[in-house]
Amino acid sequence: MSTFRFAAKVEDVKEGEILALIINETPVALTRLNGEIRAFGDICTHDDGPLAEGHIEDRCVVCPRHGAKFDLFTGKPTFPAVAPIPIYKVEVQGDEVWVSLGD
Ligand code: FES
Repeated sequence: MSTFRFAAKVEDVKEGEILALIINETPVALTRLNGEIRAFGDICTHDDGPLAEGHIEDRCVVCPRHGAKFDLFTGKPTFPAVAPIPIYKVEVQGDEVWVSLGD
């Protein structure tokens, strides 16, 4: 069973912007793609770059350090990263965003 935790107000997650959070000691980032809120791990798997300081391009987040792109639906990376980032389940409850870290 997944435990959903409060992450943010819906109004604070804006199209094309990235919101960095710590949820249960885990760095998590939120963004909005075509109106849909996405939640993902905020640490680049290449060399620990802070993905929330990068930018959104199409359906990917681009790492600010060496430019790896991570698909925000699958977590899959491009060079120079090899390992995917976690993509977390999101629930919108009223005006609140809740995220499951899979625990
Ligand atoms: S730390 Fe993200 S691409 Fe190198």
